[in-house]
Amino acid sequence: MRRLLLLALIALAGCAQQPPKDDQLYRDLGEQAGITRIVEGMLLNIAQDPRIVRHFENIDIVRLRDKLVEQLCVEVGGPCTYTGDSMEESHTGQHLTPSDFNALVENLQDAMDAEGVPTPAQNRLLARLAPMRAQVIDR
Ligand code: HEM
Repeated sequence: MRRLLLLALIALAGCAQQPPKDDQLYRDLGEQAGITRIVEGMLLNIAQDPRIVRHFENIDIVRLRDKLVEQLCVEVGGPCTYTGDSMEESHTGQHLTPSDFNALVENLQDAMDAEGVPTPAQNRLLARLAPMRAQVIDR
């Protein structure tokens, strides 16, 4: 099921999109506090994921947490500003593969499950992230 969703997301990738018109998804994710818990849960899951943990070993993890929270908040229509580097800049030289991307998405899904985020809201967030796939892999 998750694999099917990933394939659908990949098919969507590349479609330019604007931030959402309302903050419904922001509220469904639990606003700032909920998004922070989801991002921290994802990073804790990644810390135990032998497929991708090596990418995260020598970085400023607090900065990454903060920038991810800002970015997800913007993507779901929240009242935030993203102050981090572009996706291309921050992932160039990491040589990330489609499998790396899928692994990160799985860790995000597990974090959302743990927070009790309903599946439709999960899927809406993942659909917002899908267009970034091409900006992070193969760089
Ligand atoms: C849609 C998918 C992704 C999003 C939205 C995303 C988002 C971000 C953001 C916001 C930053 C912080 C930029 C900054 O410091 O200004 C970042 C950095 C980073 N990302 Fe991603 N990322 C994605 C995919 C991935 C994947 C698949 C991996 C590895 C498996 C990864 C590994 C990293 C690492 C290691 C950094 C820190 C780089 C550094 O500080 O030198 N990212 N990402």
